[in-house]
Amino acid sequence: MSEGFDFNAFQRQVIAEFRANGGRVGGMFEGSTLALLTTTGARTGLSRTSPLAYLHIDGKAVVVASAMGAPTHPAWYHNIRKNPVVTVETGTETYTAIAEIPTGNERDALFDEVTAQDPGFAEYQTKTTRKIPVVTLHRADSHSGPAPVAVEPQPDTTGDRVTGLGDFLVESHDWLRHELGELRRQLDALAEGRADSATLERPSPDLAQQLRTHCLEFCGALEQHHTGEDQGAFPMLAQQYPELAEDLTKLGEEHKTVARLRRRIQQLVDDYVPGESDPSTIRDELEHLAAKLETHFEYEEKTVVNALNSLGPAPTRP
Ligand SMILES: [Fe+2]
Ligand SMILES: [Fe+2]
Repeated sequence: MSEGFDFNAFQRQVIAEFRANGGRVGGMFEGSTLALLTTTGARTGLSRTSPLAYLHIDGKAVVVASAMGAPTHPAWYHNIRKNPVVTVETGTETYTAIAEIPTGNERDALFDEVTAQDPGFAEYQTKTTRKIPVVTLHRADSHSGPAPVAVEPQPDTTGDRVTGLGDFLVESHDWLRHELGELRRQLDALAEGRADSATLERPSPDLAQQLRTHCLEFCGALEQHHTGEDQGAFPMLAQQYPELAEDLTKLGEEHKTVARLRRRIQQLVDDYVPGESDPSTIRDELEHLAAKLETHFEYEEKTVVNALNSLGPAPTRP
């Protein structure tokens, strides 16, 4: 590209031409099939549209993060790692899709097909040391166009696999389990402190304050986790895997039960007065929540983790 080349202006022009001509673009794109991929900015949260070569391999819609052989991945690729829900415009239709990033042998086989269809991509690969990612787009709105593509969970054969959404869910559960254990320990300490205070007439306001802060943190994280499932992961799964409908309904109902227990504990902790209230009441409620939550986590991990892994990579950590 010549110096002073305004890539953004060029892209804007391609996008305008694409939309004005039903997906056909002339010049260097004459004869190629393009799609417009709209992603959500990983940092900005703003929509970003990129014109890309649009290929079909074994019934899958495919785009390639070549960036014409640039040394770094294109921004849209970073965006889908954070949020795999994208909009695809093909010129004749617009659909919502879940972007998946195959790895290992699957990526290599797809890239071979890509270069067989368009040798330009082999040339881009020679210009960069990064392994050019191939991205498959799985239609999420099954109401229009062909049926959703079945996505089989892929085993990790390479060791360099990006953690999947399902693995991310298990990681979040483990963190919540750990935090719950900490809360129980704090309550035990509080109960001991209360026993001391009965003898020494010295209540433990510090421990109560710690418990309040920690409880607030834990309850907030739990609420966020379940909201994410109710509004993000579960609707995505329901689109791709209709056979999971019954399990997803059951899990959604359990979220409501957990939310009721969580609110009760928050109330008890808020009302707790050191030296006066009985910590064992909170402790009993917490045990109740812990039992319900563990059953819920185990069922969720048994039913949806593989399916979630097939939907895409985990959100990147800030
Ligand atoms: Fe859940
Ligand atoms: Fe969960």
